[in-house]
Amino acid sequence: MKKIGIMTTGGDCSGLNSVIYNIMRGAKKRGWAVYGILDGTDGLIPEKPNIIRLDQDVLPQEYSFIAGSFLRNGNNSQNNNFEKAVQTNKVAQFTKQLKKSLAKINLDALILIGGNGSLSLAWQNRDMYSDMQLVCIPKTIDMDIPLTDITIGFDTAVSQLTRFCDDLLLTARSHHRWFVVQSMGRKCGMLALTAGVASGASAILIPEIKFDVDKLVKHIQSSDSDYGIIMVSEGISLRGHSGEPATMISRKLTAAGIANRTAFPEHIQRAGNTTPNDRILASQMAIAALDAIANNETYVMTALQNGEITTVGLDAVVNAGKPSRDPNISGLIISDAIVDDDNPLLIAADEMGIYIGETK
Ligand code: F6P
Repeated sequence: MKKIGIMTTGGDCSGLNSVIYNIMRGAKKRGWAVYGILDGTDGLIPEKPNIIRLDQDVLPQEYSFIAGSFLRNGNNSQNNNFEKAVQTNKVAQFTKQLKKSLAKINLDALILIGGNGSLSLAWQNRDMYSDMQLVCIPKTIDMDIPLTDITIGFDTAVSQLTRFCDDLLLTARSHHRWFVVQSMGRKCGMLALTAGVASGASAILIPEIKFDVDKLVKHIQSSDSDYGIIMVSEGISLRGHSGEPATMISRKLTAAGIANRTAFPEHIQRAGNTTPNDRILASQMAIAALDAIANNETYVMTALQNGEITTVGLDAVVNAGKPSRDPNISGLIISDAIVDDDNPLLIAADEMGIYIGETK
């Protein structure tokens, strides 16, 4: 009988509980025991690691489709964590402590459900996991993890953001005005682009594509509508201006006489009941992770590539994207997937008459 552990790290998203539940279910079929590490790597800091045995009494099926992580993701504000260890040059000591805790739990394998920061961190400190198999499952609303076509949580985030825009459109029409909606997504515009197309936005600004604010203004002024959605990804910038991107764009519209308001869906994008697509992906990725363990794979990530579920090496993942600095852990270089120029959604948006910036 194998003993496996699960932990959720980085920002949460809807779909995490579905992954945990499906791992538990698949492991039970294999006769394996499953333990949840509470609060991500924070749960490994105490002398007695913070873990719970997972079974259907602890995590019933009806909790599997609600957002958040049943295991929690860690407490950023506490004093003893990776961020602090990096700042104080104590990573070696810190990971030694975590490795000691993992040895106490004595796992055959650990499934880490994380974003690109967590994956880079795990690879950089891979010695911590050298006594077990490490299998990662990609999750993030940002869709910025390379080598997988989709990540857990993205579909639900698109659904949440689209619903938010649909609701705003009703009040926008009543008052003949525009809403500048700021999406999350960090340096990747995929969430803004997808929800923008889904909600029929009039303009979508993403970090990957340069835009001309005067052309945006003209595009709105020449629209045959006097209300609508302008989707702005949080990663865009406007030369010579500072502050929230939606606010900067809103000011420019106001200066041109265009009635508008800003709207910030914020963490609502990480909430909401898990969509059927995310639940299906969660079950596929959970089973792929268990198969990877059965096949003795380690330092791998489950991935969906051209409709096929597979695994890819963690080293490949952390080297495949565009390097950038992790916003939470100073000095950590992460690898971001970004929206490519030939992304079919960009082409569709352009064909729909949505202003997407200066692509030509
Ligand atoms: O990476 C997920 C994400 O939601 C980003 O889209 C966003 O920039 C960030 O996390 C918000 O982080 P926090 O929850 O720490 O405010």
